[in-house]
Amino acid sequence: MLPALPVRATTDPPRATAADTVAVGVFEGEDVAHDTSGGELQALLDAGEARRTFGHLALAHADGKRWLVVGLGDRERFDAERARIAAATVAGRAGELGSRSLCWEVPHHVSETVAGALAEGTLLAGYRLDRFRSPPDEPPARIEEVLLSAHHDVGGAVARAEVVGEAVNAARALADTPANEMTPTRLGERALELAAEIDGLTAEVEGRERIVERGMGAFAAVARGTDEEPALITLRWEPADARGPVLGLVGKAVTFDTGGISIKPAAKMFEMKFDMAGGAAVVEAMGAIARLRLPVRVVAVAGATENMPSGHAMKPGDVVTTKAGFTVEIDNTDAEGRLVLVDCMAHARELGAERLVDLATLTGAIVVALGSTYAGLFAEDDDWAQELLAASAASGEELWRMPLHEDYADMIKGRVADVTNSAEKREAQASTAAAFLARASGGVPWAHLDIAGTGWDRGRAYAPKGASGFGVRLLVELAQSVARGRPSTDSATE
Ligand code: BES
Ligand code: MN
Ligand code: ZN
Repeated sequence: MLPALPVRATTDPPRATAADTVAVGVFEGEDVAHDTSGGELQALLDAGEARRTFGHLALAHADGKRWLVVGLGDRERFDAERARIAAATVAGRAGELGSRSLCWEVPHHVSETVAGALAEGTLLAGYRLDRFRSPPDEPPARIEEVLLSAHHDVGGAVARAEVVGEAVNAARALADTPANEMTPTRLGERALELAAEIDGLTAEVEGRERIVERGMGAFAAVARGTDEEPALITLRWEPADARGPVLGLVGKAVTFDTGGISIKPAAKMFEMKFDMAGGAAVVEAMGAIARLRLPVRVVAVAGATENMPSGHAMKPGDVVTTKAGFTVEIDNTDAEGRLVLVDCMAHARELGAERLVDLATLTGAIVVALGSTYAGLFAEDDDWAQELLAASAASGEELWRMPLHEDYADMIKGRVADVTNSAEKREAQASTAAAFLARASGGVPWAHLDIAGTGWDRGRAYAPKGASGFGVRLLVELAQSVARGRPSTDSATE
């Protein structure tokens, strides 16, 4: 990944900053608020070269700087998500123009959240994984600094956006990194690295032997097929001023999913390096929560392993016992995520979690149902579901509530064990997967987010291709809401 891009708030007018490029937004029915000395920006608008249509860009040179006039569309519709998209569009053009220092003139009368989202969108747009490419003969110019200029101090929102944006980019880098490098051990090292860096954050990584000793028979079964050491990764954030219930975050971190003996087809199998996106989001969200010093106790558990076929791999029909106590018939070794997750959920409860959220690239079915627009939200507890939906609205990471039903629980009854990991019918596979996980919630309010669709190729200006880092923003917002003791108000549109 490229080095972090510093973002800073200023109350200086853009013209007075050292930025070589300034972005100035214009809403429908409005004019340029602060023009250049020669009135070049309003002139571009009047001539029709600049437009108020959302996302339109026009370029002027004046006062020794480049000026990008950005159409922001309808003021009423300009929420944090549109701000992220506008910012990413600007960052893309500024990059092409060879800008090194970019200043956004924050539009008048927008919320702090929107100011933060401009910073966030710029940071996210700057993500690239070029570690695996040969260096170009002539390294391209790149933006090295971002300023957010506003009449009032937006420093708080910008500082938060910097922490969260960097965490999202870090999660993307983990998921985009190929599996020969991003092994369970490497993911564990990332957790340890964060703990070493951030005061008060602790991390622990345990291997195969401890996973077996802890009674995590389902997780251990998945890990049997690979020679790579699996990793049970635990992070804890327990500040002295913590309020509210202990939040437990659980992530599926299958660093490569071949399907195992029930092997996947070759086409697109390479994408399965991202099957640890849930674990990556959980690890990096913990980093952001601790950096922001949120007053809430959080325990995070990521279950990391490869899912490989081999002479010692689990076989269809094998029966294992989970840490939660129920037995599972493994009828399809490609339904491995739920095996890892149930044991990690039980572990998080043992560590004191009083609310649970798991994030997992769990089913192809959720991709068919919701594409990359919404992640599927499954929850039995309505209050907890509402709290997640509120955090979703505030973060702009959208969730759509999907059903749990007794029928789905019936569909995963085992022939010889308590449950099967793969229902015989190819119906409602996202819901039968959730019904499986529900067995490990142990009465703790729990929510399952199936991010198989939203985790990859989102097609948003700030996350077009590859891993999206989905979930980091949402989890930080959720931790804040748990600390407050009430759901977020929808700050994205205030
Ligand atoms: N990691 C996959 C889910 C997945 C599929 C994510 C496509 C992203 C894109 C998961 O482990 C899996 O293989 N699920 C199976 C479950 C089935 C065998 C019951 C699926 O969804 O097909
Ligand atoms: Mn699988
Ligand atoms: Zn998988």
